Amino acid sequence: MKITFLGGGNMATALIGGMLERGFAADDIQIVELGEAARAALQQKLGVRAVAAFEERARVWEVLVLSVKPHQMKAALAPIAGRLAGQLVISIAAGLRLADLGRWLGAPGVPHARLGRCMPTTPALSGAGVTGLYADVAVDAAGRAAAERILAAVGSTVWADAEAQMDAVTAISGSGPAYVFHFIEALEAAGRGLGFDERAARRLAIDTVLGAAKLAAAADDSPAVLRQKVTSKGGTTEAALASLAAAGWHDELVAAVDAAAARGRALGDELGKD
Ligand SMILES: NC(=O)c1ccc[n+]([C@@H]2O[C@H](COP(=O)([O-])OP(=O)(O)OC[C@H]3O[C@@H](n4cnc5c(N)ncnc54)[C@H](OP(=O)(O)O)[C@@H]3O)[C@@H](O)[C@H]2O)c1
Repeated sequence: MKITFLGGGNMATALIGGMLERGFAADDIQIVELGEAARAALQQKLGVRAVAAFEERARVWEVLVLSVKPHQMKAALAPIAGRLAGQLVISIAAGLRLADLGRWLGAPGVPHARLGRCMPTTPALSGAGVTGLYADVAVDAAGRAAAERILAAVGSTVWADAEAQMDAVTAISGSGPAYVFHFIEALEAAGRGLGFDERAARRLAIDTVLGAAKLAAAADDSPAVLRQKVTSKGGTTEAALASLAAAGWHDELVAAVDAAAARGRALGDELGKD
């Protein structure tokens, strides 16, 4: 499967690194990247072909992965607009909708249809991401499988049933690492308040989150059951959870995710307005 990446930044580098580890051939991957230093680094680090523009060979692909920043996309697609022959295009750009990408990729009045979009997470940079994917109806099972194979190189994958759910994916897993970092910050602050130095408090907080997440990922029990199992009547955990419940912590987090989804919808409107 020949794959061209448009944009060779952080996320493309992480994806290609993961793909090479999982058996994709370096010869099958090329990158169109504007920056000269970035191209040299990509060639050296990943051993894949990196070029400055869509010259003839760079336009030979079965899958095109759009990996420039959302605000760079329209201009980056202009050189190939109307020149695709029905190949699969997958966008990893946050917020950009298929209708807008299709319009920018197609000829006037003929939008490109074989399109999918996905939302990776920053832990993808260390191979531990989770990616939400959505594809247009014009993408067949083979196209969906190809998209999934590429994104599975940096973590797990979850398909959305409707494009609107991509705003929810963005709100849950896209922005999610920040919520977890915030939780770690608070747990670390609590540790410092109880007398630990920064290093020890941070270690306790990070490894607690890491261990609990691993346990939850491997367990047959739901997170709620796991929580109940570690909450003894009259014990320390019960005291902490009662304090969190009194502060409305659960509902606050749900409201925060709703706010992120609403912001995602607004950004999608803004990004595709021209
Ligand atoms: N990083 C994340 O955690 C994350 C998570 C989810 C989704 N994403 C999505 O992934 C995409 C890439 O993010 P990133 O963090 O990898 O960004 P990035 O590091 O800025 O990578 C984008 C690259 O594309 C280059 N570029 C810009 N315009 C171009 C053009 N016309 N032709 C060829 N190359 C061009 C940029 O060069 P210059 O630097 O010179 O502009 C840059 O090297 C974004 O759309 C973002 O929404 C990222």
